[in-house]
Amino acid sequence: MKLVEPYSGNSSFDGELVIAGVSASALVAEFETPLFVIDEQDFFDRAIAWRDALEAHFEGAAGTVYYAGKAYLNKEIARWLKTVGIGLDACSGGEFTVARSVDFPVDQMEFHGNNKSEVEIRTAITAGVGTIVMDSFHEIERVARIAAESNKIQKVFLRITPGVEAHTHEYISTAHEDQKFGFSIASGAAWEAIVATLSQASLELAGIHSHIGSQIFINDGFEVAAVRLIELLAKFHQHFKRELPELDLGGGYGIAYLPGERAPVPHEVLGAIATVVKRECAEHGLRIPKISIEPGRHIVGPTTTTLYEVGTTKSVQLDGGENGESRHYISVDGGMSDNIRPALYGAQYTALLANRLSTVPVVSSRLVGKHCESGDILIRSIDLPGDIIPGDLIAIPATGAYGRSMASNYNHIPRPAVVAVRDGRARLITRRESIDDLLALDI
Ligand code: LLP
Repeated sequence: MKLVEPYSGNSSFDGELVIAGVSASALVAEFETPLFVIDEQDFFDRAIAWRDALEAHFEGAAGTVYYAGKAYLNKEIARWLKTVGIGLDACSGGEFTVARSVDFPVDQMEFHGNNKSEVEIRTAITAGVGTIVMDSFHEIERVARIAAESNKIQKVFLRITPGVEAHTHEYISTAHEDQKFGFSIASGAAWEAIVATLSQASLELAGIHSHIGSQIFINDGFEVAAVRLIELLAKFHQHFKRELPELDLGGGYGIAYLPGERAPVPHEVLGAIATVVKRECAEHGLRIPKISIEPGRHIVGPTTTTLYEVGTTKSVQLDGGENGESRHYISVDGGMSDNIRPALYGAQYTALLANRLSTVPVVSSRLVGKHCESGDILIRSIDLPGDIIPGDLIAIPATGAYGRSMASNYNHIPRPAVVAVRDGRARLITRRESIDDLLALDI
């Protein structure tokens, strides 16, 4: 039986979970648990869908799809992006270096971050990075100075805060006024930043950028942001009698985590945004700027499933057992170190018994990790078969974005391996960390 979202595009259940032709038990026999399993074809399909939708809706004005590497990046992912022919948004020297290590075309890279270091800026500029997205007045001076010292004229964008609510969790919402990112339009900082950038001979201001937040299902935030950014482009045009050629609308497109959720699809979102962009540009008498986007979660999130092994189960009486209610705790061999999102954002996931079909009735369960903290909960409440026992495998789908990339070594737990599966074959793309890797850091 083919599985639908939130399971990855090539997942099915045939007596057990099978991802791109490889069964959960075969994957675990070879690579152990916890394990991130990425459905390679699904990754390509999703990246291509964004690339093609951008081209379809903006035609000559289509800019670049910059995959947001923070969602998940390793060398193989960077190679896949190269194959698809899309760009990369890197927000640290580390992400930049991963891409450079596989000769990712540096002119197809954007460098982001609200506090890039001197070394990071210098490395990016020397390597010939395509665009630096600047986020503060200090940075305008810093990038200008380093570019001048390197005898370069650096192409830059300014990150603008359009002052919209993104309808998502506060920690992943980035376009309201009171936060660390961007230059606010409302306060006048955005205009000042434009003027400051133009005064630097070593900077070429190519456009403006905004990223309003993440895991967004409703298009109106993107649309309002586009309206306000185009107003700013119009003001620029009026004032300087020329047009800024580019507009980068960031990422943030939501995905399904739970059964029944319907995620926005690239054609719909970009169709809606294109309508607004074209209308606003026409109203202001502007040419349509080159439009770029930065999807991260939407490309990688749904492609990946985490496999865990159950270690213990326990039934806990609720309310002192007075009304006979109990909760079934199922502990797996990972937890908040490989998925911090439930603890950090209250993010919700689903799960299934991956290694066999159970026909016994489900019981209300809580899926927890192995960390020394009661907040180490992967799924607060889920109905799972009542006969789950140690050694069973549990799969959590849609863990590709901000799972492995935000993983930690809490309790000195080594971070999991990542395996790519395609056409019945599985291969390691990031090996499991070992305790020796961790010990190697201590002096
Ligand atoms: N562009 C910029 C400038 C960003 O800051 C981000 C994400 C993206 C693009 C990609 O956003 P996406 O398409 O993946 O939503 N750790 C959080 C998400 C933090 C997002 C940070 N910035 C989470 O697990 O939900």
